[in-house]
Amino acid sequence: NIPPGPKPLPIVGNFGSLFVPPFILKLFVRKAEDYKKKSASPISPQVGLTELSKVYGNIYSLFVGSQLAVVLNGYELIKEALSNNAEVFSDRPDIPLISILTKRKGIVFAPYGPVWRKQRKFCHTTLRNFGLGKLSLEPCIHEGFAMVKAELLKQNQEAGGEGVDLTPFISNAVSNVISSISLGQRFHHQDEEFCKQLNLMAHGLEISMNSSAVLINIFPWLYYLPFGVFGQLRRVERDITAFLKKIIARHMATLDPDNPRDFIDMYLVEMLTQQKTGGSEKDGFSEDYLFYIIGDLFIAGTDTTTNSILWMILYMCLHPDVQENVQREIDAVVGRGRLPSLTDKGTLPYTEATIMEVQRLAVVVPLAIPHMTSKTTALQGYTIPKGTVIIPNLWSVHRDPTVWENPDDFNPSRFLDEEGQLLRKEYFIPFGIGRRVCMGEQLAKMELFLLFTSLMQAFTFRLPEGHQPLSMHGRFGLTLAPCHFSVCVTPR
Ligand code: HEM
Repeated sequence: NIPPGPKPLPIVGNFGSLFVPPFILKLFVRKAEDYKKKSASPISPQVGLTELSKVYGNIYSLFVGSQLAVVLNGYELIKEALSNNAEVFSDRPDIPLISILTKRKGIVFAPYGPVWRKQRKFCHTTLRNFGLGKLSLEPCIHEGFAMVKAELLKQNQEAGGEGVDLTPFISNAVSNVISSISLGQRFHHQDEEFCKQLNLMAHGLEISMNSSAVLINIFPWLYYLPFGVFGQLRRVERDITAFLKKIIARHMATLDPDNPRDFIDMYLVEMLTQQKTGGSEKDGFSEDYLFYIIGDLFIAGTDTTTNSILWMILYMCLHPDVQENVQREIDAVVGRGRLPSLTDKGTLPYTEATIMEVQRLAVVVPLAIPHMTSKTTALQGYTIPKGTVIIPNLWSVHRDPTVWENPDDFNPSRFLDEEGQLLRKEYFIPFGIGRRVCMGEQLAKMELFLLFTSLMQAFTFRLPEGHQPLSMHGRFGLTLAPCHFSVCVTPR
């Protein structure tokens, strides 16, 4: 009695009809070059999966090959599984390529259990403390922003009305936050070594998600082939490993336990403390585990935040009236004489409502990260066998017409009460819910607030004459990115 769903094809299941991997799609897109340039028609699995719920109901089955996957749509159902029945719905599937690369260590793809819990608790608390404390986020963002500002204005002038691609600027500012927090190092955007490592990471992800390397999930031995994308993937993995291991070793050699400089130091101090009490091995605290956690912070914390900011700028271009209201509020509360600070959070309700409304519509992680059931269970009268992949469709929650009035409209005021104060909505869940809820939620909210308010204080954005984004459903990849767009920037 598993949930109903579309009929699977032999061997591929529903994979072919729903999730066409981009590298296969490329074969069929007439202009492969357009796809590369990110201007070909994007695919939107989150929209397709939401449409299917209209046919089969909020809970339905799909087969990825022979693997059963159950898609959950709508807030109540997702909450029932991930929150009310968290003990059963919080595991992660063993995806061969990811397991080879992560050894199922770190946080994101680690199996649910005591080691994951201890590691996550420590990392979560440590990240949350990077707010206004000693290792404050603010100077880091302000410094990064000064760099963005100068370079952006220069490029904008050179572009002469054609507009500038903001992606490298935002991505650099965001990567610098993660690298300051975790590695204790800021990198100038012209720093060759750092840019090389960032590019390597992006290249590695691109290969893992978007090339024939995904075939490793069906034939794991392909990973060991020395040529083609398989060889490339292993070289990228080797270079990133060497870079991170060097940084961890340097930290270990210069560690002063009384004065931790960054996340790595804090982890090492915890590791040494655990070793003294005999707990480090069984709880996973080791240099090896730390290596995978740092990788997780970069992968989970960069693309998500960068794309959220890019969506914000795109929505501001498309809704100049909202952009003006935000700027008016920032001018009134913060003024122009200083940069916005985290202490301004709570005094800029319209601006915060705008950030939330963009997150509601854009949902940069639209299908969360796949979960897996750790034992056979029942949900809504259906049997969900142990080992079923669970796909929480967060996008469906944010577009649900039964909880949002005109869900497709961009309207920040839906997050404000009659006095203009911020309203918290239970079914606003861009960071997921339950035990696997985003570990960087607090950090991400601080980053989004500081970066967005600084950008709005300094500039007005608009699209170049006659330009429109190809689709507002975005480009599906590691996270949901807006379709390629350029902006013209006017300093304020
Ligand atoms: C997981 C969203 C930024 C670290 C997730 C999940 C979502 C999400 C939806 C999956 C939840 C689930 O599996 O049910 C976002 C959004 C972000 C953001 C929208 C930015 C706007 C960050 C940042 C970090 C981070 C800055 C850390 C530096 C993680 C980690 C997990 C995760 C480690 C895995 C948690 C686990 O498996 O226990 N995030 N995230 N995220 N996120 Fe984020």
